[in-house]
Amino acid sequence: MLRDYQSLSEQAAALVGDRIRRNPATVLGLATGSTPLGLYRELVKMVRRGVIDFGEVVTFNLDEYYPIAKENPQSYYYYMQRHFWEPAAIPPERAHIPDGNPDDVRASCRDYELKIYRAGGIDLQILGIGVNGHIGFNEPGEELMAKTHLVSLSGETIAANSRFFEKAADVPRMAITMGLGTIMKAREILLLAAGPDKGTAIRETVKGGLSTRVPASLLQAHPRVTVMVDREAARYLR
Ligand code: F6R
Repeated sequence: MLRDYQSLSEQAAALVGDRIRRNPATVLGLATGSTPLGLYRELVKMVRRGVIDFGEVVTFNLDEYYPIAKENPQSYYYYMQRHFWEPAAIPPERAHIPDGNPDDVRASCRDYELKIYRAGGIDLQILGIGVNGHIGFNEPGEELMAKTHLVSLSGETIAANSRFFEKAADVPRMAITMGLGTIMKAREILLLAAGPDKGTAIRETVKGGLSTRVPASLLQAHPRVTVMVDREAARYLR
């Protein structure tokens, strides 16, 4: 448990920095949303100070809205360019994210899985968590999908994402996301959560049984997961 969002971001950056110094060609799985913004800011500072170099790193983002064009400022592609890929000097050919506007969704999802496979799999996957316990956009339900797929976002997720949009009608209803299998195959996982809204999801993730109703709870079956939470997100852990 970390004191606050800033120390969470610094600790997360220290872990990522350590893995990249050990293996400069690390394959990183990346998340968007508000939680990893502090991590990205700290990593960019480390790049500017010459402490780490992302020149050889390969990245794969968890998800992208659908349908959405890359140029749309609300796309995750745009978010990543702005907050991380560009300022961290990640070579564009090494930065991957699901295509939010493919001609053929299934083929595009298959291709994304293949790219991850060909890169040797993900070494370190960074995750945020939804208020409903989703990871990537794998929403709670009867069953979970293993591979990258198109998903309808839940009402809770649409409501949570609406803070990034001016009009409710603009909030995307669908997304393309890595599946639970894609995420669980990562060799190491770093889950970040900050703020009181995440308290219940974190308690169920860490203390509950494994359930498709809380997709993040499946991480309990993963051999190498670090969960970093601030005080507020840890409020129900005691
Ligand atoms: C984003 C993603 C989502 C978010 C989650 C939390 O790429 O995969 O699972 O991590 O919705 O979002 P924030 O951090 O905005 O609370």
